Amino acid sequence: MPLTAYDLTGRTAFVTGAASGIGRASATLLAQAGATVHCADRDAQGLHETAALIKESGGTAHTHTVDVADHAQIAEAVASAATTSGGLDIMAAIAGVMHNSTVLETREEDLDRVLSINFKGVLYACQEAARTMIAAGTRGSIVTMASGAVDTGGPGLLCYGAAKAAVVQLTKTLATEIGSHGIRVNAVAPGWIRTPMTTRHDESAQAHTEALMVRMSPLGRVGEAADIAHAVLHLASDAASFTTGQILRPNGGVAMPW
Ligand SMILES: NC(=O)c1ccc[n+]([C@@H]2O[C@H](COP(=O)([O-])OP(=O)(O)OC[C@H]3O[C@@H](n4cnc5c(N)ncnc54)[C@H](O)[C@@H]3O)[C@@H](O)[C@H]2O)c1
Repeated sequence: MPLTAYDLTGRTAFVTGAASGIGRASATLLAQAGATVHCADRDAQGLHETAALIKESGGTAHTHTVDVADHAQIAEAVASAATTSGGLDIMAAIAGVMHNSTVLETREEDLDRVLSINFKGVLYACQEAARTMIAAGTRGSIVTMASGAVDTGGPGLLCYGAAKAAVVQLTKTLATEIGSHGIRVNAVAPGWIRTPMTTRHDESAQAHTEALMVRMSPLGRVGEAADIAHAVLHLASDAASFTTGQILRPNGGVAMPW
Protein backbone atom coordinates (compact mmCIF):
# COMPACT_ATOMS: atom_id res chain seq x y z
CA MET A 1 0.00 0.00 0.00
CA PRO A 2 2.33 2.83 -1.15
CA LEU A 3 -0.26 5.49 -0.26
CA THR A 4 0.06 4.68 3.45
CA ALA A 5 2.88 7.26 3.44
CA TYR A 6 0.15 9.91 3.13
CA ASP A 7 -1.99 8.42 5.90
CA LEU A 8 -2.07 10.81 8.88
CA THR A 9 -4.34 8.69 11.06
CA GLY A 10 -3.49 9.23 14.72
CA ARG A 11 -1.55 12.45 14.06
CA THR A 12 -2.37 15.93 15.27
CA ALA A 13 -1.97 19.00 13.06
CA PHE A 14 -2.12 22.71 13.91
CA VAL A 15 -2.94 24.94 10.94
CA THR A 16 -2.80 28.74 11.05
CA GLY A 17 -4.77 30.76 8.51
CA ALA A 18 -7.31 27.94 8.53
CA ALA A 19 -10.35 30.22 8.15
CA SER A 20 -9.82 30.87 4.44
CA GLY A 21 -8.13 30.01 1.17
CA ILE A 22 -4.99 27.89 1.31
CA GLY A 23 -5.20 27.39 5.08
CA ARG A 24 -8.77 26.11 4.87
CA ALA A 25 -7.93 23.79 1.95
CA SER A 26 -4.89 22.47 3.84
CA ALA A 27 -6.79 21.93 7.08
CA THR A 28 -9.54 20.00 5.31
CA LEU A 29 -7.07 17.90 3.29
CA LEU A 30 -4.98 17.02 6.36
CA ALA A 31 -8.22 15.98 8.07
CA GLN A 32 -9.20 13.87 5.04
CA ALA A 33 -5.80 12.17 5.36
CA GLY A 34 -6.77 11.23 8.92
CA ALA A 35 -5.23 13.93 11.12
CA THR A 36 -7.00 15.62 14.00
CA VAL A 37 -6.79 19.25 12.95
CA HIS A 38 -6.52 22.30 15.19
CA CYS A 39 -7.61 25.25 13.06
CA ALA A 40 -6.26 28.67 14.11
CA ASP A 41 -7.08 32.09 12.70
CA ARG A 42 -8.22 35.54 13.81
CA ASP A 43 -11.47 35.10 11.83
CA ALA A 44 -13.77 33.20 14.20
CA GLN A 45 -16.61 32.85 11.67
CA GLY A 46 -14.31 31.47 8.99
CA LEU A 47 -12.82 29.05 11.51
CA HIS A 48 -16.28 27.84 12.41
CA GLU A 49 -17.02 27.19 8.71
CA THR A 50 -13.75 25.27 8.20
CA ALA A 51 -14.37 23.12 11.27
CA ALA A 52 -17.90 22.41 10.04
CA LEU A 53 -16.54 21.31 6.62
CA ILE A 54 -14.09 18.94 8.33
CA LYS A 55 -16.73 17.49 10.64
CA GLU A 56 -19.25 17.07 7.78
CA SER A 57 -16.77 14.82 6.00
CA GLY A 58 -16.17 12.74 9.13
CA GLY A 59 -12.99 14.43 10.38
CA THR A 60 -12.03 15.86 13.75
CA ALA A 61 -11.46 19.60 14.13
CA HIS A 62 -10.89 22.08 16.95
CA THR A 63 -10.77 25.86 16.61
CA HIS A 64 -8.52 28.50 18.17
CA THR A 65 -9.25 32.18 17.56
CA VAL A 66 -5.81 33.79 17.67
CA ASP A 67 -3.78 36.64 16.25
CA VAL A 68 -0.62 34.92 14.99
CA ALA A 69 1.36 38.11 15.58
CA ASP A 70 0.75 37.71 19.33
CA HIS A 71 3.28 35.21 20.64
CA ALA A 72 1.41 34.58 23.89
CA GLN A 73 -1.79 33.71 22.03
CA ILE A 74 0.00 31.24 19.74
CA ALA A 75 1.86 29.67 22.66
CA GLU A 76 -1.37 29.16 24.57
CA ALA A 77 -3.21 27.74 21.55
CA VAL A 78 -0.43 25.28 20.63
CA ALA A 79 -0.12 24.14 24.24
CA SER A 80 -3.87 23.68 24.49
CA ALA A 81 -3.95 21.71 21.20
CA ALA A 82 -1.16 19.40 22.36
CA THR A 83 -2.88 18.84 25.71
CA THR A 84 -6.26 18.17 24.12
CA SER A 85 -4.94 15.78 21.49
CA GLY A 86 -2.01 14.20 23.35
CA GLY A 87 0.75 15.82 21.32
CA LEU A 88 1.54 17.68 18.12
CA ASP A 89 2.88 16.07 14.93
CA ILE A 90 2.34 18.72 12.24
CA MET A 91 2.49 22.52 12.20
CA ALA A 92 1.34 24.29 9.04
CA ALA A 93 2.03 28.02 9.50
CA ILE A 94 -0.06 29.49 6.69
CA ALA A 95 -1.70 32.71 7.95
CA GLY A 96 -0.63 35.80 6.09
CA VAL A 97 -1.69 39.11 4.57
CA MET A 98 -0.95 40.83 1.27
CA HIS A 99 0.42 44.35 1.14
CA ASN A 100 1.22 46.45 -1.91
CA SER A 101 3.26 49.63 -1.83
CA THR A 102 6.25 50.82 -3.80
CA VAL A 103 9.56 51.15 -2.00
CA LEU A 104 9.26 54.93 -2.06
CA GLU A 105 5.73 54.89 -0.62
CA THR A 106 6.32 52.24 2.05
CA ARG A 107 5.70 53.50 5.57
CA GLU A 108 7.36 52.05 8.64
CA GLU A 109 3.98 50.95 10.02
CA ASP A 110 3.28 48.96 6.81
CA LEU A 111 6.57 47.13 7.13
CA ASP A 112 6.02 46.48 10.85
CA ARG A 113 2.50 45.12 10.30
CA VAL A 114 3.45 42.79 7.45
CA LEU A 115 6.58 41.51 9.19
CA SER A 116 4.59 40.96 12.40
CA ILE A 117 2.02 38.74 10.71
CA ASN A 118 3.86 37.17 7.77
CA PHE A 119 7.22 36.60 9.45
CA LYS A 120 6.91 36.83 13.24
CA GLY A 121 3.59 34.98 13.13
CA VAL A 122 5.31 32.08 11.34
CA LEU A 123 8.33 32.30 13.66
CA TYR A 124 6.16 32.02 16.81
CA ALA A 125 4.24 29.06 15.38
CA CYS A 126 7.52 27.33 14.48
CA GLN A 127 9.03 28.00 17.90
CA GLU A 128 6.03 26.68 19.80
CA ALA A 129 5.66 23.63 17.54
CA ALA A 130 9.37 22.78 17.75
CA ARG A 131 9.42 23.16 21.55
CA THR A 132 6.36 20.95 21.90
CA MET A 133 7.70 18.28 19.52
CA ILE A 134 11.17 18.22 21.08
CA ALA A 135 9.79 17.97 24.63
CA ALA A 136 7.62 15.01 23.62
CA GLY A 137 10.26 13.34 21.42
CA THR A 138 7.96 13.65 18.39
CA ARG A 139 9.55 13.29 14.93
CA GLY A 140 7.20 15.90 13.49
CA SER A 141 6.90 18.06 10.40
CA ILE A 142 6.72 21.85 10.22
CA VAL A 143 5.50 23.46 7.00
CA THR A 144 5.81 27.22 6.47
CA MET A 145 4.14 29.34 3.80
CA ALA A 146 6.50 31.43 1.68
CA SER A 147 5.56 32.74 -1.77
CA GLY A 148 6.68 32.80 -5.37
CA ALA A 149 7.50 36.43 -4.58
CA VAL A 150 10.84 35.18 -3.23
CA ASP A 151 11.74 34.01 -6.75
CA THR A 152 10.28 36.68 -8.96
CA GLY A 153 9.99 39.92 -7.02
CA GLY A 154 7.77 42.57 -8.53
CA PRO A 155 6.71 46.18 -8.01
CA GLY A 156 4.89 46.82 -4.73
CA LEU A 157 6.11 43.61 -3.07
CA LEU A 158 8.78 45.01 -0.76
CA CYS A 159 7.05 44.32 2.58
CA TYR A 160 5.37 41.07 1.51
CA GLY A 161 8.42 39.70 -0.28
CA ALA A 162 10.81 40.65 2.51
CA ALA A 163 8.64 38.82 5.04
CA LYS A 164 8.43 35.74 2.78
CA ALA A 165 12.21 35.79 2.20
CA ALA A 166 12.59 35.83 5.98
CA VAL A 167 10.26 32.82 6.18
CA VAL A 168 12.55 30.96 3.76
CA GLN A 169 15.58 31.79 5.92
CA LEU A 170 13.72 30.74 9.07
CA THR A 171 12.78 27.45 7.40
CA LYS A 172 16.32 26.59 6.35
CA THR A 173 17.84 27.68 9.66
CA LEU A 174 15.35 25.78 11.80
CA ALA A 175 15.73 22.68 9.63
CA THR A 176 19.46 22.63 10.40
CA GLU A 177 18.90 23.29 14.12
CA ILE A 178 16.28 20.62 14.87
CA GLY A 179 16.90 17.94 12.24
CA SER A 180 18.77 15.90 14.87
CA HIS A 181 15.44 15.50 16.70
CA GLY A 182 13.92 13.98 13.57
CA ILE A 183 11.83 17.09 12.97
CA ARG A 184 11.57 18.26 9.36
CA VAL A 185 11.02 21.89 8.35
CA ASN A 186 10.05 22.87 4.80
CA ALA A 187 8.43 25.79 3.02
CA VAL A 188 5.86 25.98 0.26
CA ALA A 189 6.29 28.88 -2.20
CA PRO A 190 3.06 29.03 -4.22
CA GLY A 191 2.59 30.94 -7.41
CA TRP A 192 -0.56 32.98 -7.99
CA ILE A 193 -3.46 31.12 -6.36
CA ARG A 194 -7.15 31.99 -6.64
CA THR A 195 -8.19 32.74 -3.02
CA PRO A 196 -9.84 35.65 -1.17
CA MET A 197 -6.34 37.20 -0.91
CA THR A 198 -6.07 37.50 -4.70
CA THR A 199 -9.72 38.32 -5.41
CA ARG A 200 -10.29 41.84 -6.73
CA HIS A 201 -13.58 43.66 -6.26
CA ASP A 202 -13.39 44.78 -9.86
CA GLU A 203 -14.21 41.85 -12.20
CA SER A 204 -12.26 43.22 -15.14
CA ALA A 205 -9.14 43.72 -13.00
CA GLN A 206 -9.54 40.12 -11.79
CA ALA A 207 -9.88 38.82 -15.36
CA HIS A 208 -6.86 40.86 -16.46
CA THR A 209 -4.68 39.50 -13.64
CA GLU A 210 -5.78 35.91 -14.20
CA ALA A 211 -5.17 36.15 -17.95
CA LEU A 212 -1.65 37.41 -17.25
CA MET A 213 -0.97 34.54 -14.83
CA VAL A 214 -2.34 32.01 -17.33
CA ARG A 215 0.03 33.35 -20.01
CA MET A 216 3.01 33.16 -17.63
CA SER A 217 2.45 29.51 -16.73
CA PRO A 218 3.55 26.69 -19.05
CA LEU A 219 0.49 24.84 -17.74
CA GLY A 220 -1.78 27.63 -18.97
CA ARG A 221 -3.85 27.99 -15.82
CA VAL A 222 -3.89 29.70 -12.44
CA GLY A 223 -3.50 27.79 -9.20
CA GLU A 224 -6.24 26.75 -6.82
CA ALA A 225 -6.02 26.40 -3.03
CA ALA A 226 -6.22 22.61 -3.40
CA ASP A 227 -2.98 22.63 -5.42
CA ILE A 228 -1.18 24.11 -2.43
CA ALA A 229 -2.97 21.95 0.12
CA HIS A 230 -1.57 18.88 -1.65
CA ALA A 231 1.94 20.34 -1.37
CA VAL A 232 1.35 20.91 2.37
CA LEU A 233 0.06 17.34 2.77
CA HIS A 234 3.11 15.96 0.98
CA LEU A 235 5.56 17.81 3.22
CA ALA A 236 3.57 17.01 6.36
CA SER A 237 3.44 13.30 5.58
CA ASP A 238 5.93 10.43 5.69
CA ALA A 239 6.11 10.64 1.89
CA ALA A 240 8.54 13.52 2.51
CA SER A 241 10.47 11.77 5.28
CA PHE A 242 13.89 12.55 3.68
CA THR A 243 12.96 16.13 2.80
CA THR A 244 13.96 19.02 5.04
CA GLY A 245 15.11 22.61 4.60
CA GLN A 246 13.53 22.66 1.13
CA ILE A 247 11.29 25.08 -0.73
CA LEU A 248 8.52 23.33 -2.67
CA ARG A 249 7.29 25.52 -5.53
CA PRO A 250 3.78 24.74 -6.79
CA ASN A 251 3.75 27.75 -9.13
CA GLY A 252 2.59 26.34 -12.46
CA GLY A 253 6.15 26.65 -13.77
CA VAL A 254 6.10 30.45 -13.63
CA ALA A 255 9.53 30.45 -11.95
CA MET A 256 12.09 27.65 -12.28
CA PRO A 257 15.02 28.40 -9.95
CA TRP A 258 17.77 25.82 -9.50
N1 LIG B 1 -3.11 33.32 -2.83
C1 LIG B 1 -1.88 33.39 -3.36
O1 LIG B 1 -1.70 33.66 -4.58
C2 LIG B 1 -0.68 33.13 -2.51
C3 LIG B 1 0.55 32.96 -3.16
C4 LIG B 1 1.69 32.73 -2.40
C5 LIG B 1 1.60 32.65 -1.02
N2 LIG B 1 0.40 32.81 -0.41
C6 LIG B 1 0.36 32.73 1.04
O2 LIG B 1 -0.53 31.72 1.45
C7 LIG B 1 -1.06 32.06 2.74
C8 LIG B 1 -2.57 31.98 2.70
O3 LIG B 1 -3.03 32.94 1.77
P1 LIG B 1 -4.47 32.84 1.07
O4 LIG B 1 -4.28 33.17 -0.34
O5 LIG B 1 -5.13 31.58 1.47
O6 LIG B 1 -5.16 34.12 1.73
P2 LIG B 1 -6.53 34.29 2.54
O7 LIG B 1 -6.67 35.74 2.73
O8 LIG B 1 -7.62 33.54 1.87
O9 LIG B 1 -6.23 33.58 3.93
C9 LIG B 1 -5.36 34.15 4.87
C10 LIG B 1 -5.85 33.77 6.24
O10 LIG B 1 -4.91 34.26 7.20
C11 LIG B 1 -5.65 34.82 8.27
N3 LIG B 1 -4.87 35.81 8.98
C12 LIG B 1 -4.35 36.97 8.48
N4 LIG B 1 -3.73 37.65 9.46
C13 LIG B 1 -3.87 36.93 10.60
C14 LIG B 1 -3.44 37.11 11.94
N5 LIG B 1 -2.75 38.20 12.32
N6 LIG B 1 -3.73 36.15 12.84
C15 LIG B 1 -4.43 35.06 12.47
N7 LIG B 1 -4.87 34.84 11.23
C16 LIG B 1 -4.58 35.75 10.29
C17 LIG B 1 -6.87 35.44 7.61
O11 LIG B 1 -7.91 35.68 8.55
C18 LIG B 1 -7.21 34.39 6.58
O12 LIG B 1 -8.09 33.41 7.10
C19 LIG B 1 -0.51 33.44 3.08
O13 LIG B 1 0.62 33.32 3.91
C20 LIG B 1 -0.12 33.99 1.72
O14 LIG B 1 0.89 34.96 1.82
C21 LIG B 1 -0.75 33.05 -1.13
